[in-house]
Amino acid sequence: MGKARTLLSCSACGQQVGQWVGRCPGCGAWGTVEQRSPGAASGPVTLQTLQHGAGGEARASTGIPGIDRVLGGGLVPATVALLAGEPGIGKSTLLLQLVANLLAAGLPCLLASGEESRDQVALRARRLGVPGDRVAFVSGRELGPLVDAARAKRPFLLAVDSIQSLRDSAGGQVPGGPAQVRCCTDALVGLAKAERIAVLLAGHVTKDGDVAGPRTLEHAVDVVLTFDGEPRSGLRMLSGGKNRFGAEGEVAWFEMGPDGLHEIDPGGLLRAGEGEPGSATALPRLGRRALAVEVQALVVPTDGPARRQATGLEPGRFQLAAAALDRAARVPLARAELFGAASGGVRIDDPACDLAVAASLASAASGIPPPPGSAFVGEIGLTGRVHPGTAMAGRLAAARAAGLTTVFCAGEPGPMPDGVRAIRVGHVADALEWAVFGAGSRAKKDRVA
Ligand code: TYD
Ligand code: MG
Repeated sequence: MGKARTLLSCSACGQQVGQWVGRCPGCGAWGTVEQRSPGAASGPVTLQTLQHGAGGEARASTGIPGIDRVLGGGLVPATVALLAGEPGIGKSTLLLQLVANLLAAGLPCLLASGEESRDQVALRARRLGVPGDRVAFVSGRELGPLVDAARAKRPFLLAVDSIQSLRDSAGGQVPGGPAQVRCCTDALVGLAKAERIAVLLAGHVTKDGDVAGPRTLEHAVDVVLTFDGEPRSGLRMLSGGKNRFGAEGEVAWFEMGPDGLHEIDPGGLLRAGEGEPGSATALPRLGRRALAVEVQALVVPTDGPARRQATGLEPGRFQLAAAALDRAARVPLARAELFGAASGGVRIDDPACDLAVAASLASAASGIPPPPGSAFVGEIGLTGRVHPGTAMAGRLAAARAAGLTTVFCAGEPGPMPDGVRAIRVGHVADALEWAVFGAGSRAKKDRVA
């Protein structure tokens, strides 16, 4: 019988290697190359084994119900999640709060920051009321030492702030560059799967959606969470994109306060400004939820260039609503500067908000507020025809929750919640009779009780 040969292979991808190396040449994971006895040589395993392997499929609660919901019921062990958002939105704050909650639940965590020093993180912890002496911290600038620390500590969660500030000195590229970001992410995915450590990566994106690529990382990770909002306002929205372990499109709302992020029910926060000229209520779907959101407009006649500026609204749709109003409803806007905004730091790109945008513009131009307690739902076509919004049931429920009583909408909206009536409109001019033909006038057509 020949001498039993020592086998070395990567516990993450199964790659066999002739001699021990710190980094797997197959998947790039660090410290995953291990000795195996011939009997335990890497080979196919049954799904049964995986499912019931160490850790199982039990999920850990993050202590924040909205985040558990967005994740699909809590954090699955060994998940790699990307938390993408603009600088200043609150990624570092959220990471530290999650770490604190998991620690409080008895799950060990390791926080790696390459963005901030240990002292800076300690200051943030004090501000958040997190016991800093319990948070294990490691610098997140160098991949190798970070991976070593995680392998030594084997936390339930490794939080990395941020993927752009991490570099693999073996790679020789610039930190934050696409190649580094890719290579560090791959290594951390390998670590997560081999050691069964959940990894949460903060990643910066710009307003245009990218800089050195969190967007390009989406396929490498299991879950993508997008943190959004207007950095200056306190309102934040966390939405789930890709999710290998749950539904996509769930949303949670937060407010950034002096002591960190607090989950809120946005219903109360986004109540429409009643009775003000230039303000109308939209019922956008944000992720899977609909909300009542105030849309505002300002119309300023000008002899100069007729600027159009939209904040929180999709600029193309804003211009289309204005042009349709001008041509099809004869509200003269061509020689005016037009400003539009969604309130509360919300960003709306739902086409069914066109009609509310048009209503705010018509109201601003005429000086007449929309009927009290009203909201507007519909997509405006180039001819001025209004098309029904999708998922009306959710929008009507949001109208009811916000205390609204009348919804101007196209098509057949379906069953109406108690206390809410629909006024059906086919054309933008029908929906805006109150503005176009003066106060006291109401759309007469197609009323549904
Ligand atoms: P931060 O988490 O540093 O954002 P990111 O990591 O996404 O760049 O938070 C940024 C802002 O939040 C910063 O302007 C300060 C503010 N903030 C609060 O308002 N309250 C707080 O408790 C904390 C920690 C930060
Ligand atoms: Mg940060």
